[in-house]
Amino acid sequence: MKKIRIHPWPVRLTHWINALGMVCMFMSGWGIYNASPLFRFSFAKDLTLGGWLGGALAWHFAVMWLLLINGVLYVLYGVFSRHFKHDLLPVSPKAIKRDLSDALRFRLKHEKGVYNAVQRLMYWLVLAAGVLIVISGLAIWKPVQLQALTAVLGGYDLARFVHFGAMGAIGAFTVVHLTLVLLVPKTLLPMITGGVKTVQSGRVEHD
Ligand code: HEM
Repeated sequence: MKKIRIHPWPVRLTHWINALGMVCMFMSGWGIYNASPLFRFSFAKDLTLGGWLGGALAWHFAVMWLLLINGVLYVLYGVFSRHFKHDLLPVSPKAIKRDLSDALRFRLKHEKGVYNAVQRLMYWLVLAAGVLIVISGLAIWKPVQLQALTAVLGGYDLARFVHFGAMGAIGAFTVVHLTLVLLVPKTLLPMITGGVKTVQSGRVEHD
């Protein structure tokens, strides 16, 4: 038996940069949306960032680079340290069904430092939404230079809906994610300090 970190520092650092960056992206994105709404509603001005369209765009493009680099570093770390393999995989349909049914009946046990199957699935889905939001963002940012990409997404107008949809998916994830943190608050401190868990020796340590 040996003690290892529940959340290694690269995961924590990239996670919190992401959380902060996401707030900026949501708020500046809503400001950009308000200048030319896709639907019949606009976002309250207090929920936007940048003050005016130019300011919102400046925020969006600046934080976009931070999040892109942060996301790439997280994925590289996840692959090469085997964090993904050890902590986010496997995700079998059987385990998802079991954990979802337990979760809906508030019977799902939280094992220290172990993500349940529903959590794993949600993390993979939000990563996929992250990739989609970057791809669709590039398509609407440079629709002339990247016209092949924009065409794959069905053209500029459709790509805007895809970008908005990916934002909605990440927003929905965040609401559920924060609700779960509120329901199981003991998970929060290890995500800040790292925490420790005891594992069978032989397990590859990645901190
Ligand atoms: C203030 C906002 C947030 C809080 C308080 C928070 C809290 C947490 C906590 C406590 C965990 C560990 C859960 C556990 O050990 O069971 C976690 C993991 C995670 N969170 Fe968040 N989170 C926030 C925002 C976000 C956002 C905006 C995203 C993505 C859009 C996100 C994505 C993730 C992912 C992917 C993991 C798993 C990380 C890994 O182990 O690789 N979080 N979060």
